[in-house]
Amino acid sequence: ASELGSAHSFPLSSRASLGTRRFKGRAPDYSILLLEEASGRLLVGARGALFSLNALDIGDGTHKEIPWEASPEMQSKCHQKGKNNQTECFNHVRFLQRLNATHLYTCGTHAFQPLCAAIDAEAFTLPTSFEEGKEKCPYDPAHGFTGLIIDGGLYTATRYEFRSIPDIRRSRHPYSLRTEEAPMHWLNDAEFVFSVLARESEASAVGDDDKVYYFFTERAAEEGSGSFTQSRSSHRVARVARVCKGDLGGKKILQKKWTSFLKARLICHIPQYETLRGVCSLDAGNSAHTRFYAAFTLTTQCRKTLEASAVCRYDLAEVQAPTWSTRMASDAGAAMTVGVPEPRPGSLLTPSCLDDPLSQNSVTINVDASMNIHSWPLVTMILGLLWGLRADPIAGLISLTLCPFNASDGWIHKAVVLGSGMHIIEEIQVLREPQSVENLVISLTQHSLYVGAPSGVIQLPLSSCSRYDSCYDCILARDPYCGWDPST
Ligand SMILES: *[C@@H]1O[C@H](CO)[C@@H](O)[C@H](O)[C@H]1NC(C)=O
Ligand SMILES: *[C@@H]1O[C@H](CO)[C@@H](O)[C@H](O)[C@H]1NC(C)=O
Repeated sequence: ASELGSAHSFPLSSRASLGTRRFKGRAPDYSILLLEEASGRLLVGARGALFSLNALDIGDGTHKEIPWEASPEMQSKCHQKGKNNQTECFNHVRFLQRLNATHLYTCGTHAFQPLCAAIDAEAFTLPTSFEEGKEKCPYDPAHGFTGLIIDGGLYTATRYEFRSIPDIRRSRHPYSLRTEEAPMHWLNDAEFVFSVLARESEASAVGDDDKVYYFFTERAAEEGSGSFTQSRSSHRVARVARVCKGDLGGKKILQKKWTSFLKARLICHIPQYETLRGVCSLDAGNSAHTRFYAAFTLTTQCRKTLEASAVCRYDLAEVQAPTWSTRMASDAGAAMTVGVPEPRPGSLLTPSCLDDPLSQNSVTINVDASMNIHSWPLVTMILGLLWGLRADPIAGLISLTLCPFNASDGWIHKAVVLGSGMHIIEEIQVLREPQSVENLVISLTQHSLYVGAPSGVIQLPLSSCSRYDSCYDCILARDPYCGWDPST
């Protein structure tokens, strides 16, 4: 609260909204944003449509649109299956990323029958044929989803199919992989929030593999059971899992399953802050310095009486061995030995993708999910629900990070990380109605923050130094983009 007290606050009506640009088409729910710096386009996935906007000024009227709705027949079939025709039986675009030099790749829920498509980025039109989406996209628009295209392979994590099974999958790849379902539950009712590729092979002296990290909230395993057995407890905890990019799957029961899957618990040291809302990373390309900022809210039980949030910082180095759970036991708690392919190109066992502590081309998988990665909060906010965050690494400044945080009431909070503290320097109201901000993207080139919301897309300048009309105000604001020249 004291941090908030010192922040500059700009409600929608104030002159701070100068320089703000807006876009709204006929579609609702502008939840997917993809910034293509090279072409200067901001690509947007909404409900029943895709848009290509001019990143310089999203409201300049030069946008292109691809309508992509589920047909009335699909919608009524969805309704017959017991789904809500007001919320669930539309085509909610959930994924939009660059596939290759010429094409984008997109997936939509398509009235509970997910479809995906490669889109010609230049022409910006849907192709004549679609790909089956059930391995790649959730059926339910409300389920957490995160996905990446890495060297042409699609890495997605969500709750798949009609039964909503949580899973981390790789598809569109010669070796399609997934996590193990019953009887060993690698994931327990998981809701995914974020994923990131860490190109650790580049910085590694020993030729370690690149890794993909997944952040999610899941049901806690029963205390002390030391196993991934399906828990009936309603207690949910935040976790990070990782897989190695070069994983080719195992043998026998691990065929087409990840052999490099590890997970650990993320702890932000204030009691009851367990629900992970958003994660952003800095320098994900440079393993030694990658830091994750994670936003937490209170557990559901506590939220009935109080809405509060906190941000914790985690270093990737800490997320590596020996913190990780490297073995996974069977239901009965006994260690189980399973074969892995030999030779294993990219050889991918724990905790670095290369170590194979158990030689004999076998790995023991342990269910012990008691590995913890600790951090203490950088900032806490009372009366604010964080939903997502993005980082803006500013070259040439020492450990300075800008993270705009968005709250459920349509306010963006801009924070600067200085050493071991985080200071909220600005609060800007971007939406009139109370609605959740669904996505944030930062462009250093355009000096803009793009906000995806149910009612449209908003573009804000990363800073507006002219708001500060005295040296005192300017310096006190601690905005790394602003400075004061007494002579001018
Ligand atoms: C949803 O289903 C109800 C009941 O069948 C129907 O009356 C209504 O028109 C449908 N709404 C939409 C938007 O399709
Ligand atoms: C990109 O991918 C699409 C769809 O798979 C394919 O048709 C196209 O030829 C690819 N383009 C290049 C340059 O590889």
